Amino acid sequence: MIDKCKTIYLPRINDVRGNLSFIEGGRHIPFEIRRMYYLYDVPEGAERGGHAHKALHQLIIAISGSFDIHLDDGCSKKTIHLNRSHEGLYVCPMIWRVINNFSSGSACIVLASDYYDEKDYYRGYDSFINDVKNRK
Ligand code: TYD
Repeated sequence: MIDKCKTIYLPRINDVRGNLSFIEGGRHIPFEIRRMYYLYDVPEGAERGGHAHKALHQLIIAISGSFDIHLDDGCSKKTIHLNRSHEGLYVCPMIWRVINNFSSGSACIVLASDYYDEKDYYRGYDSFINDVKNRK
């Protein structure tokens, strides 16, 4: 499951005026985009995430600065450091994620496959692990 979570290299158009990147739902990323949200002004030492989603697909981008994303599918874990505006991490459903080590002034954009729905969240690690085991 965790192997489905991959860095996606986005198009980057470079000229003397700077860079331009773009994302088309269903083309550059494996889902249609229903929502975008962003994290910014994250205080030093703060941690975001700390949950999993039942059905939501996401693409996480360090649009500015850098941070670490820790992924856990209940069997394996991996950590990805994001620091490029033209790269995103695709996170499939049923992945526990924690985001930390935000650099000062960093900003994180998240593209999501669906509207916000609290019922799609696992907020507790134990209930997430229970469901991972029950699905096997
Ligand atoms: P949460 O998902 O816990 O944030 P993070 O993943 O960054 O740690 O969301 C924090 C609060 O914001 C929570 O009360 C739910 C609310 N929220 C929305 O209302 N809409 C959204 O699209 C998101 C992502 C969160």
